[in-house]
Amino acid sequence: MSDHTTDPIPRLLISSTDASVELGATSLAGPADAEADPLADPLADPIARAAALLRAGWLVAFPTETVYGLGAVATDPAAVARIFAAKQRPLSDPLIVHIADLDAMRLVARDIPPVAWELAERFWPGPLTLVLPRSSRIPPIVAAGGDTVGVRLPAHPVARALIRAVGAPLAAPSANRFMHTSPTTAAHVLADLDGRIAAVLDGGPCAVGVESSVLDLTHQPARLLRPGGVTLEQLRELLPDAQGAAPRQAEPSAVREMVARAPGQMPRHYAPSTRLVVYDATGAAGRAAVLAGARRALGAGLRVGALVPDDEAAALTALGVVVERLGPSDALAELTRRLYAALRALDAHGCDLLLAHSFTPEGLGLALWDRLRRAAGGDLTPPEDAESEAEPEVAP
Ligand code: TXA
Ligand code: MG
Repeated sequence: MSDHTTDPIPRLLISSTDASVELGATSLAGPADAEADPLADPLADPIARAAALLRAGWLVAFPTETVYGLGAVATDPAAVARIFAAKQRPLSDPLIVHIADLDAMRLVARDIPPVAWELAERFWPGPLTLVLPRSSRIPPIVAAGGDTVGVRLPAHPVARALIRAVGAPLAAPSANRFMHTSPTTAAHVLADLDGRIAAVLDGGPCAVGVESSVLDLTHQPARLLRPGGVTLEQLRELLPDAQGAAPRQAEPSAVREMVARAPGQMPRHYAPSTRLVVYDATGAAGRAAVLAGARRALGAGLRVGALVPDDEAAALTALGVVVERLGPSDALAELTRRLYAALRALDAHGCDLLLAHSFTPEGLGLALWDRLRRAAGGDLTPPEDAESEAEPEVAP
């Protein structure tokens, strides 16, 4: 992973609408009676200003190595409530608490098993969230009323500097509206949340590009609730019996239980608004399925977009397909890093149908496979359907 040592000093972008914007009776962005105006001193450094806003109860988005987070002081239940309002996220979906130092895990969680410290030593700072018993210092609203809490020590230096400047852990979901694609740039954050938050710290594009792996250590054996930047294979080096996420043919009861354990893990998530079909095929078979699907959809008069590795782009462009390239087909980290920005860009083209194919769900490929599947609404499409007689379905 990039060590971010070359990152420029972040810029603080103030949300364009008055930060005290009220929707109905609820102030979304911050407390109406904030005494101090932390923005009064424009010469203060951006992290200090962002920290002052957060301490006063406002919402500030910030970069992490995975995606941008929408932060509030985790120990302030009123500030945390504003996160749910700004995102229009149901209160049943728990938030991850971000810390800047390993020792802070003790403030956030209790009854921490030895393996949590081993995992933290090995993978933090980095894209791994550990679900542990919740400490009473973390208010229930953060954990959707549950007795567990997700904890993560992010690798991005701006995130850690911000948490240290605030002097408290930050609750932060991805900084997008509920069910939208997660943001990997500050511009993505403002596209979703401008006017609903106080500010965003712009630290450039995110290096990993998909969310952290969420590992539940309150379950025996431990289980991966969401695949992400730390792979299941890496986790199994320390926890050989760790269970994987997203079984290919999940039983309905297993799905129900998974949703109860990780309420954010709905089958449809991270979704563009244009219908996306992801063929259940990789490599040459995947390439052939996307080409066949594109020919049929174009033949039916549809505007078609495709999300493919670089070497598949030319043939599709020649057909008249709008193409977003994800990078070299063998560069998994790059394909993953570019996925969300490519989805957002394609979604803005006004196509009738978007096409992609799957990737082998191994290593980082499991996260890529999982996010593509969710963006497609929860299901992969059999590659045979690309050539079948039925007209391609288009969302109303
Ligand atoms: O990479 C990330 O994890 C990003 C950055 C900002 O850190 N954050 C993020 O947060 O993706 P969010 O809220 O968009 O997704 C958190 C996921 C949700 O699926 C939620 O249900 C799950 O983690 N989660 C959080 N706390 C949990 C808990 N106590 N038990 C089970 N699942 C939990
Ligand atoms: Mg999210």
